[in-house]
Amino acid sequence: MMTIIVAAIGGSLLRPEVEEKHVWLSQLISLIRDRVSAGDKFGLVIGGGAPAREGISLAKPLINDDYHLDKIGIAATRLNATIIREAFTEAGIFVSGIIPSSVNEAVQLLEERPVIVMGGTEPGHTTDAVATRLAIAVNADKCIIATNVEKVFNEDPRENPNAKSFDKLTHDELQQIVGPAEHKEAGKSSVVDPVAVFDAKKANIELNIIDGRKIERFKHAILGLDFEGTRIASELER
Ligand code: UTP
Repeated sequence: MMTIIVAAIGGSLLRPEVEEKHVWLSQLISLIRDRVSAGDKFGLVIGGGAPAREGISLAKPLINDDYHLDKIGIAATRLNATIIREAFTEAGIFVSGIIPSSVNEAVQLLEERPVIVMGGTEPGHTTDAVATRLAIAVNADKCIIATNVEKVFNEDPRENPNAKSFDKLTHDELQQIVGPAEHKEAGKSSVVDPVAVFDAKKANIELNIIDGRKIERFKHAILGLDFEGTRIASELER
């Protein structure tokens, strides 16, 4: 059985609000290169971030259904995945030559290469759900969700500065916070896609939610060490 680390990487991480935007990508490249040398395999699912938001808001007044708006979001995720894939290739990482367009295709490509980079697949969810499904398909014991918040909070900390953060939650508790497993609107995001939480609970797969801007935290989660962030595990494992 393959040992594969699966992670959803939020699109916001590619366009940080900092001067030296390429620094994060260089750190990601070093981390993945080191871990591939150590024998790890990676399935990385990249979010749409700014181009997804921009494309969806441009088309929204003209397109009235989420199915078609979702397709614009998917194209943006694939654009971001291409940026990462090309940068990895340039850095000598043995990454799959194509961006898989389904979880099945990703599983097959991972048999040939140590790294695949992909974006979204079909309308109706976000890349968090793609990553969770990939993690389930390759029998990974967890799925890392790298985003741009420190931890899961009970409320949006930008709106309520007194919001409470969590180090650990059950799938049910996280589902309560993010809401029922439905895709509400193209481009609308919550800390974790509720569809992904539902799938992770069903398959009893652990989610590690980390601030992906801090590459050390990503490394700790990859290595299975204690990490700063929120660990989502079933009731029994707590
Ligand atoms: P993202 O996965 O980027 O969602 O997909 P997000 O919650 O905005 O995540 P961040 O900000 O990158 O972390 C963007 C949009 O693309 C469509 C959806 O409309 C989603 O909201 N999408 C993405 C799909 O329809 N299917 C997919 O598999 C992926």
